[in-house]
Amino acid sequence: MKNTHPPASPEHLLQKIKGDIEHGIGHVKDHISTISANSVPGLSASHLSAKDIIQDAKEALTREVKSLSTKVASVTQPNIATMALADIQAIILNDRPTPYYGTLVALKVNDGKIGRQLIKAVLPEVTSSQDFQKDMAANLTLVMTYEGLKALGLPQSSLDSFPENFKIGMAGRADILGDTGDNDPKHWLAPFGDKGDIHICAAIIANSQATWQAKLAELKQALAPYSDSQNQNTAIEILVTHDFGADGAVKNVFGYRDGISNPEVAGSGIHLANNHERPIAAGEFVLGYQGEAGVIPPMPQPEVLGKNGAFMVLRKYQSHVADFNRYCLQQSDNDLAKADQLGAKMFGRWRSGAPITLSPEHDDPALGEDEKRNNNFDYSNDSVGKGCPLGSHARRMNPRNTKDFILSDVRLHRIIRRSVSYGDIVPPHVTKDDGKPRGLIFIGINAHAMDTLEFLQSQWINDGNFMNLGEERDPLLGVHEGNDHAEADVFSVPAEPIRQRHTGILQFNTLQGGEYLFIPSLSALKWISELGENKNNNDTN
Ligand code: HEM
Repeated sequence: MKNTHPPASPEHLLQKIKGDIEHGIGHVKDHISTISANSVPGLSASHLSAKDIIQDAKEALTREVKSLSTKVASVTQPNIATMALADIQAIILNDRPTPYYGTLVALKVNDGKIGRQLIKAVLPEVTSSQDFQKDMAANLTLVMTYEGLKALGLPQSSLDSFPENFKIGMAGRADILGDTGDNDPKHWLAPFGDKGDIHICAAIIANSQATWQAKLAELKQALAPYSDSQNQNTAIEILVTHDFGADGAVKNVFGYRDGISNPEVAGSGIHLANNHERPIAAGEFVLGYQGEAGVIPPMPQPEVLGKNGAFMVLRKYQSHVADFNRYCLQQSDNDLAKADQLGAKMFGRWRSGAPITLSPEHDDPALGEDEKRNNNFDYSNDSVGKGCPLGSHARRMNPRNTKDFILSDVRLHRIIRRSVSYGDIVPPHVTKDDGKPRGLIFIGINAHAMDTLEFLQSQWINDGNFMNLGEERDPLLGVHEGNDHAEADVFSVPAEPIRQRHTGILQFNTLQGGEYLFIPSLSALKWISELGENKNNNDTN
């Protein structure tokens, strides 16, 4: 008999292959969990090193499987993708690998012509979304400040076409951002600040030590002809290099899993696991596409410069984890379990990443680790915040379907996060600061990232009014002074029989610097690198 079924579409086939691989990964995971030194007949306490070898192998295998799962989860469906993946820098649409290793390099361009040559030299190494699909081992991102675009000799008409807040820069917008007190730009670490020294940032994010070092060596080689380590009379100054990274569990320095929730970009071909949220229009994240309002927002000109680009906000935080641990313990009569719950209430998730609204009483590591479930929720069953307080960091930053707050379209304030951690994790019982550098380099991306950050900072971080919380601020990010009588330093936790008020919140994260950056498309980078070679761009230095 003839088969009358229509042929499966490529999307269906791809889904099936992904499903089969995920199924296989599930089996391997189950198998790994059954491996143990105890299952080796005759192995005793005297075989300690054999036990260590088995444990090491088990951990290595678990890491590999995790990295494979991430890769499968982020496989683009090319026939569904309607965006120009070959032209869009990978950092915009593709999540970082698990675990990740990397370096951020900040550069100053003292000679525009040499700067353009450098971009030409580095361009083949810059990773597009399409490259990332083929090989996610190590990717290179190249971004620029407004001062950088000026130094690279962009024509005045193009410079004029950038948004005003981008031109002013993050330090110049401190009053709008509420970057006061300890966060004030006058306290920032060089080269951050209002001098406009940072022109270009290059970031490498890799999935292993080896691929990281190899990509870094390539970048250094590309930089070598134009700069020297002493920065003497160089056309390109290397202002700072900053390493970062996190292990397979992707915990930040507080010990909480980070980078879980991101919006799904319609047309990117990448499906994320929040079934409660419709994908968001591409134009909210990448320039040159229709946004949620159905129109293409204005972008830098000419079109080759703006289209397929985006903006990035970068904020470097120093985290005071020992202060956070001490505060949580003091507020919980030194009971570690209670302190842990208070911490989870502040973040909105437990250490494992499990959403506290789904598991209000205790952590649920299986839920936290499950990429299909750990972001698949909204706040329908938690309207007053008895599970996840309205003032928690994650709920403020994405209220999802929280009702009864001063209305604002949540979908218009979403930002893609590619933040990276640096420094080591401080365990929950440690309450004395060792003074070491550790924290988070927050990286937020969308088509109007400066506006989104300025909105989030002024309305949802440094104000509680939108959630009917008066002057309360984000417990983790707001500017705090530890004042027991200041409303701004209160964290309210709805509870039975009465709401708990935790007063005297301290500054748990201090801003040490930040920049507004443009993420050009690959064709824009080529266009910039060729400025001055084209007779029409004669106002280039
Ligand atoms: C030291 C600084 C920060 C730390 C330690 C931190 C930590 C976290 C953690 C642990 C989560 C929950 C896990 C996840 O969904 O990834 C989270 C979520 C989030 N954070 Fe932060 N964060 C920091 C800074 C920021 C900043 C500056 C912003 C924006 C201005 C921000 C925006 C968000 C958003 C949008 C979410 C996702 C909320 C959701 O969709 O449920 N974070 N953050």
